[in-house]
Amino acid sequence: MKEITLANVSEEVINQLPKGALLTVKSKDKLNTMTIGWATIGRVWNKPILTVLVRFSRYTHEVIKDANTFTVSFSTDGKLKEAIAVCGKESGRNMDKFQECGITPVYIDGIESPYIAEGDLHFVCKIVYKNTLEPELLSKEIKDQWYRDNDYHCIYFGEIMKILSK
Ligand SMILES: Cc1cc2nc3c(=O)[nH]c(=O)nc-3n(C[C@H](O)[C@H](O)[C@H](O)COP(=O)(O)O)c2cc1C
Repeated sequence: MKEITLANVSEEVINQLPKGALLTVKSKDKLNTMTIGWATIGRVWNKPILTVLVRFSRYTHEVIKDANTFTVSFSTDGKLKEAIAVCGKESGRNMDKFQECGITPVYIDGIESPYIAEGDLHFVCKIVYKNTLEPELLSKEIKDQWYRDNDYHCIYFGEIMKILSK
């Protein structure tokens, strides 16, 4: 694993997101990973920031709401394709996705949330802000398309501590 900069990977991230990535979170005794397709990368508060959106219905929400960190693992070589499919439809409430998918958590010193060994591009983030979407502030178009069931997202802003690449 080598450490790389945000500018070097931004294009890759934008290209990979539609294929899905694994958002992994650990808090106390709870560990879970789920597929995400939406995220933004950029610079806020003079920090490199990755934001992820987690709906309240997800088991991941139950974990990340108390967490200090998260990771996002991409699979540019496609090795996580099957795991990304399973983790995008099954819930950690009902299964241990690590065991079921044969994926391996890797822990870094000082960061509670592991990344997924089988990925090849990882963002390691410290949560610096979170905010629930306010329905009345959303455009009608987005509200009608994505939130007809009132299952809103909470947005987590992660300060990017490390970007690791194989
Ligand atoms: C390609 C893809 C992208 C997804 N992106 C998101 C996302 O950005 N945010 C979200 O809350 N759910 C997203 N989902 C849905 C969750 O991955 C799915 O509901 C998962 O089963 C939740 O697992 P959990 O209950 O263990 O948290 C996505 C699913 C797929 C297949």
